[in-house]
Amino acid sequence: MITYRTQIAIIGSGPSGLLLGQLLNRAGIDNIIIDRVSKSYILSRVRAGVLEGSSVAMLDKAGVGTRIHKDGLLHGGFELAFSGRSERIDMQGLTGQSVMVYGQTEVTSDLMDAREADGALSIYDAEGAQPHDFDGHSPHVTFKKDSVSHRIDCDFIAGCDGYHGPCRKAIPTGALHTFEKHYPFGWLGILAEVPPVSHELIYANHSNGFALCSMRSAKRSRYYIQCTADDRVENWSDQLFWDELRRRLPEHFADAMVIGPSFEKSIALLRSFVAEPMRFGTMFLVGDAAHIVPPTGAKGLNLAVSDVHYLYEALLEHYNGKSPAGIDHYSQKALARVWKAVRFSWWFTTCMHRFPNTDAFDQRIQEAELDYLSKSTAAKTSVAENYVGLPY
Ligand code: FAD
Ligand code: PHB
Repeated sequence: MITYRTQIAIIGSGPSGLLLGQLLNRAGIDNIIIDRVSKSYILSRVRAGVLEGSSVAMLDKAGVGTRIHKDGLLHGGFELAFSGRSERIDMQGLTGQSVMVYGQTEVTSDLMDAREADGALSIYDAEGAQPHDFDGHSPHVTFKKDSVSHRIDCDFIAGCDGYHGPCRKAIPTGALHTFEKHYPFGWLGILAEVPPVSHELIYANHSNGFALCSMRSAKRSRYYIQCTADDRVENWSDQLFWDELRRRLPEHFADAMVIGPSFEKSIALLRSFVAEPMRFGTMFLVGDAAHIVPPTGAKGLNLAVSDVHYLYEALLEHYNGKSPAGIDHYSQKALARVWKAVRFSWWFTTCMHRFPNTDAFDQRIQEAELDYLSKSTAAKTSVAENYVGLPY
């Protein structure tokens, strides 16, 4: 058995684990990160694309902001398309804030590079990771690598291990309250080396279903269309995808669309999920390990970052201020922000998608909501305020 001793054992090398690790490194708090899969596999997962200003500030604080400010695309607004027309939500004008379009894979890559430069320990391809004794006096994590058993003794365990990870599952069921909502559809997404149809994102409501035009750079587009929950990527040739995407956009956007071969195509199912509390003894749940939102509001990654903010401040208070207050309040503070993003993501999803078996009443309500939104500065301000991210 190989043994280690550290202050914080971090399970999961996604954005939440890596960001927490980097902030802790800078504060001189020792940590080890382990992940079930390889570095290259993590970097191949195409996920989120929109960072709130507060998330960018957190990445700056972790010392990894250089490339974001150089290559990221600053967006001061986005388009809401419906009934054949589009309405701009002027985030910058309404709130004074903007968002940064910068892919999650780039964030992860920047954080991995910084960690490597610091010489901090990360262990990939770790099998069967398990947190132990987080309700007792000797919290530790065990796993195997290359058939050899490993054990990390620590002060605290950070469960940054995503929705399917072992940390949340290790908490006794009676101690956890979960809230869940499934949506009866998915998003079929593609990446293509073509210039984006517009310089800003377009969220479109159409009778055939939702569509989203996003991007990764001035040359690379990320597009999504709503599909059924049981749909498969094999059902969608590139041509079928482009035809359906264009059908769901107002004519001026459809006409301007540049199409080309996709080099990534995947389906994500939509759900809302929250587990409470986010702390159990000396173990914390962070990011997707504790909550999932549908991607409509672009909040998943940003919530992972705000959780890290609350946890980092709590750990600083513990190690520097010798006070347990931050740790005691982590769950409550993080959840207060989480629930507001859960609400916004649920609302935006409900507004923008076509639900199976929608009756005429629900349909009219959706139309009225979008019409109201397009005419009311108060309503637009509310959307903009949530989209740019509520304050920490
Ligand atoms: P993750 O990124 O899931 O990282 C968790 C890490 O834990 C992973 O590296 C995993 O390998 C590791 N792990 C799991 N089990 C173990 C184990 N047993 N042992 C060790 N390590 C383990 N958000 C948006 O805002 N916009 C989007 O478009 C969007 N698209 C998404 C598409 C998909 C398919 C998914 C799954 C999520 C998407 N999200 C999106 C959400 C966003 O990507 C997540 O909120 C974000 O990745 C959360 O970061 P995290 O670090 O908490 O979790
Ligand atoms: C993305 O670019 O992948 C993206 C952007 C906005 C969203 C969801 C996903 O709301």
